Parts: sequence; C-alpha cells; structure tokens
Amino acid sequence: MRICVIGAGFVGLATGVTFGKLGYEVVCCDIDKGRVKSVNSGTLPFYEPPLEKELRILVKKGSLAATVDTVAAVKASKFAFVCVQTPSLPSGRIDLRPAKTACGSIAKALKYSRDYIVVVMKSTVVPSTTDLFIRPILEKGSGKTAGRDFGLCMNPEFLQEGSALKDSMEPTRIIIGSLDRRSGDMLESLYAKIKSPRLRTDLRSAEMIKYASNTFLATKISYSNEVANMCVRLGIDSEPVLKAVGMDPRVGPLFLKPGVGFGGSCLPKDVRALKDRVRLEGYESRMLSTLLKMNDEQPREAIRLLENAIGDLGNKRIAVLGLAFKGGVDDVRETRAVPLITGLLAKRARVVAYDPMAMQNFIRLMPTIEYASSVSECMKGADGCIIQADWPQFRKLGKKEISLMRAPVIVDGRRCLDPATIKRAGGKYLGIGYGLQ
Ligand code: UGA
Repeated sequence: MRICVIGAGFVGLATGVTFGKLGYEVVCCDIDKGRVKSVNSGTLPFYEPPLEKELRILVKKGSLAATVDTVAAVKASKFAFVCVQTPSLPSGRIDLRPAKTACGSIAKALKYSRDYIVVVMKSTVVPSTTDLFIRPILEKGSGKTAGRDFGLCMNPEFLQEGSALKDSMEPTRIIIGSLDRRSGDMLESLYAKIKSPRLRTDLRSAEMIKYASNTFLATKISYSNEVANMCVRLGIDSEPVLKAVGMDPRVGPLFLKPGVGFGGSCLPKDVRALKDRVRLEGYESRMLSTLLKMNDEQPREAIRLLENAIGDLGNKRIAVLGLAFKGGVDDVRETRAVPLITGLLAKRARVVAYDPMAMQNFIRLMPTIEYASSVSECMKGADGCIIQADWPQFRKLGKKEISLMRAPVIVDGRRCLDPATIKRAGGKYLGIGYGLQ
C-alpha cells in the first residue's frame, strides 16, 4: 500500500520513515526541489542522525522516494498525510498558507481518483481548522464530499527534535480524530503494528489535544523557571527542589528543567496560536499571555546573574555557548540565543559565540557578532560565559577551557553542568536557580 506524505520537514520525514519501516511504500512530496533532491539521495535537510540512517536504507531499498508532483503522488496513494509547517504570522495568528497549497493539490488528485483516499492532517492546526478550513478546500476543489467520497482525519504528532524517529516509532499515544468512522478505522489499522495507547476523537478534539499538550509543556517549563528564579534569590538550589516536586506521580520528573526559556519551532508558536484562536471567540487567556511574557523575560535572568558577578558588561568579552534552540539539534527557530545575545549587546558587551552544529543557521540570524570555531576558542580571553543550549560536550568543560578565560565566570543557562566540577576546575559557577555560593 502506498502512503503519500506532503511536506518533507521534521514531521513529514519522521512520518515517512516510520511508515517505510512499517513496510509501506512511501512518497514524500515537497514544493522545494532542493529538499526533494536531498531526500532522494538519502540525505536529510537538517541534523537528525538516526532518522537519516533509516532514510538512507529506505531510499536504497526503493521503498521511499520524494517528488515535487503532489497531485500524481496523492492519486496513486491510499493515504495523504499533510505535514507542512504552520508557522506564526507577525500577529501571532497561525499561517495556514502552506496547508492551503498542500490541500489544493490534494483536492485536484481527489477529483480524478476513483479510490476512497484518506486525507490526514498531521500539521499542528488550531481547533476547527480541519473541519472549517481544510474540508471546504478539499470538497470545493474535488467536487466530492468528505466522509462519503474521501476520508478526513486529524492525527497530531508528539515527536521532539533530536529523537524524532524514536518518538514517531514508539509514540506515547496515537490520537485519531476523524470526521467519519470509516476513515478513522482505516487510519487506526495503518498503525496496527505500533503498540501505543490509542484515543479516538472528533477532528476538533484531536486538534486541541496537540495544543493542550504543548501549552502544558510550556507551562511546566515556565513553572520551573519561576521556581528557579525564586530559589536563586532565597539562597537555595532549585535542582533538588524541582526533583522532589517531580517525584510526585501527579507531576512527573520530565520538563522541570529551568533555563533561559523555551524555544524551537513548536512551543512558542503554539502558545501564540492558541491564544489568538480563543481570542477570536472572545476569550482572553491570561495564562497563555503570562507564559509568553515570562518566556520573553527569562533570558534576562542569565544576564542579571552575569552582571551580579562581573559588574557592568560594557566592553566585556562574553562567550555564549550553544546557539540552537536546544542541544543536539541544528535548528535555530525561536532560539533563546537571539534575545540573550541581543540583551548582552544592548549592555555593550562584546559577544563571541559557538555551537557544534547550528552555527551556519545562526549566522543568518545574527551575522555581525564574532563566532569561534571551538569551545576553547570561544572561551579564550572571555570575562564570562553563558551556556544557552545543553550540548553534551559542554558538560565536559574543565580546567583546560576555564583557564583560558580572563575571568572564570560560568552562567549555566540550562542547568546542564555540575557546579562542583566547575568549582574544582577553578571556575565560578552561577546557574539559573542556583542560589548557593
Ligand atoms: C516540542 C514538544 O516537546 C513535542 O512533544 C512536540 O511534538 C513538538 O514540540 C511539536 O509540537 O512538534 P521540540 O520543539 O522538539 O518538541 O522541543 P522540546 O524538546 O520540547 O524543547 C522546547 C524548548 O524547551 C527548548 O528550548 C528546551 O531547551 C526547553 N526546555 C525543555 C526547557 O527549558 N526545560 C525543560 O525541562 C525542557
């Protein structure tokens, strides 16, 4: 059976490779010819090594290929998964233009197909989009009726960058929102080999599940940041505090790590999009507004800690380690490194930055700061250092690197270092939520 996946980004390629590994024939579609070429040569357009390895195997075997011809690919498939990006417009509203283009092509394919094709929205879209925006595009463009001539489902994904394939192959849950029973049953049987818990819902609930999940994660992170900011002022280390909070099964241990805030292509834009969506219904979500404000302000906490230690930042050389939105990825979308560095520059600091994988992407965002080609080069002569992303190699910071600094002040913006190791290596350790001296 052939499955078509539209959008060759993180979600699309993780979905495509997952179905390829489950034994289906997969066609990935993208309007970007460069991306299509890259996929067909078994290379990912982003850094995600385990996914790339499996992609290469599937391409070699001939069970996964990419094309720019979405109409032909959908016509020859039983399922069409929409996995295009849904970024924020400047107002915070969700940008549905890529989804509109993709569904326009699917509609053309549906028009000439005699098969019952199931269209599956996997892109994160605000509640009612699939029913009130996508469905009319499909019905008008094809002259057919959803739920009778073709199927319509909403099947959100919960994968994290850095563990995309594992999260897609072993999802915490499979949510199947469907317009009609038949398409829901067909989608459920597609996942038969994956033994994760399932939940069947309507389209709108499935859309909301994704937003409720991501805004909860954003809340958990912001809560941790708040506890950490209080602890540091009270002379307490937030680490055992948050660890103990997470030992309560009603809370759970994950996503309680304080830092300079949440970034990436999902959490910030999903908080904004849901806030905008409910505002259209006359509801002002104070909680979501506060989350965004807290997250905007959190990088300042790292700057404040640094200033407390070394005084006026004017003309001081500050090393920023980690430019990606988190360690282990090369994605710089909504990375906290931008507000952090902007804040340092506003205080007239001289910034030198380094990231093991994301530097090329970041240079496009901030072309004028100084970049180093290694951790040591970055730290050489620095009056202070801020860790912005939790790359494993930063955890190895020791005497060698710290002795290169002019003043050995380390601000751990992700709480990924061991304070005792830094202190033993002659460094002054400061961290988000670290109130001990
Ligand atoms: C996020 C969600 O975690 C996924 O479940 C979801 O499927 C995905 O968005 C999506 O909607 O597609 P991702 O964007 O890969 O995944 O990033 P996360 O791992 O969630 O990290 C987001 C940000 O929060 C990063 O900047 C990270 O450093 C920060 N973070 C995370 C913390 O500050 N503290 C934590 O405890 C965890």
